[in-house]
Amino acid sequence: MTTRPPTASGLDDVVAAETALSDVDGQAGRLVIRGHRVEDLVSSATFEEVCGLMWQGAMPAPAEREGLRTALAGARDHAFGLIPSLGAALEATDAMEALRAAVAHLRTTGNLHDDAVLLTGAIPVFAAAWHRAREARELVPPDASLTQAADFLHMLSGTAAPPARVAGLDAYLCCVVDHGMNASTFVARAVASTGSDPVSAIVAAIGALKGPLHGGAPGPVLDMLDAIGRPERARAWLEGELAAGRRIMGMGHRIYRVRDPRAAALERAASALERSGAATERLLMARSVEREAERLLAERHPERHLKTNVEFYTAVLLEAVGVPRTLFSTTFAASRVVGWCAHVEEQRRVGRLIRPASRYVGPAA
Ligand code: COA
Repeated sequence: MTTRPPTASGLDDVVAAETALSDVDGQAGRLVIRGHRVEDLVSSATFEEVCGLMWQGAMPAPAEREGLRTALAGARDHAFGLIPSLGAALEATDAMEALRAAVAHLRTTGNLHDDAVLLTGAIPVFAAAWHRAREARELVPPDASLTQAADFLHMLSGTAAPPARVAGLDAYLCCVVDHGMNASTFVARAVASTGSDPVSAIVAAIGALKGPLHGGAPGPVLDMLDAIGRPERARAWLEGELAAGRRIMGMGHRIYRVRDPRAAALERAASALERSGAATERLLMARSVEREAERLLAERHPERHLKTNVEFYTAVLLEAVGVPRTLFSTTFAASRVVGWCAHVEEQRRVGRLIRPASRYVGPAA
């Protein structure tokens, strides 16, 4: 049997699937999603359009987009109706743990597209319900007249969100929908390759996304900005972290050797909010911390080109639109579920079990 040499670095450069969904060029800093540059999707598409693009392969016409919006609204309504039967799922202290448990209660419809709609509609409902329950506030039922982004903010706060905030969240949801063979997508595809159902695949993917090296960084990015407090303290604080052997959250990436293109797209989306009077202080602070962190990391790891990743400006943008930091990872899941479902469908068409090899290094019999 021919095998690649085992690698301690995490399967770098191993091609695990052919995909028509997204292409990440880490050297050029380019992300193409079904033929569209991510920055174009962020600046000019809506979340519902990106769902159509991912699941059907082309930008939906206006009537199809409205059909998707209505279908997602129906899925949110269905998920809200399930909440009384979720047992203790939403009582978990960690939002991702609650989400994983709640999503596990969904039942597959037996149709991949319908499952994608069901799962995508459910995640913001469970996330908002977890947040409201923790604050001992009454749950807010979904509003079928709203878009997914507008309804998520409405279910969180109980009031209609200003259009600039809805646009900011919509931009985020478009931005992180898919990203090549990242860890959670690989997990979803591995589960799908066994012939298991999409709900099982997405529960497993949520588990993978929960880890701080994947989807858990934006909350700690805000904690870092809070701890630094003032731009002039950034260098000393970051030096202290590196000296203690800790990683700077929101910096570095397995694939990108330049600034993550999603960081730029999200910084632009946050700047749009800045023009409407929000996020000004945070952005000032974030930009100076980014400059110092990149400078320090370049001194320490000149060979690695450690630059800003998507999580850095995710933190700034999600805070500005009004998503509490405890929900940053679940909001990531609310977008990435669209990509996971598209990969599940793609993998099911391939129809071959993912089953890599390992090299035994234990004692001989
Ligand atoms: N801060 C400090 N040092 C970092 C770093 C960071 N954010 N990212 C990487 N490094 C260091 C590593 O410690 C390693 O140093 P060593 O060889 O002395 O041990 C070196 O740079 C090489 O790391 P690399 O191989 O590029 O990292 P990776 O591919 O294993 O990890 C991440 C990629 C994303 C996990 C890593 O950059 C990281 O932990 N970043 C912070 C968490 C984060 O923002 N996650 C969200 C990712 S989108």
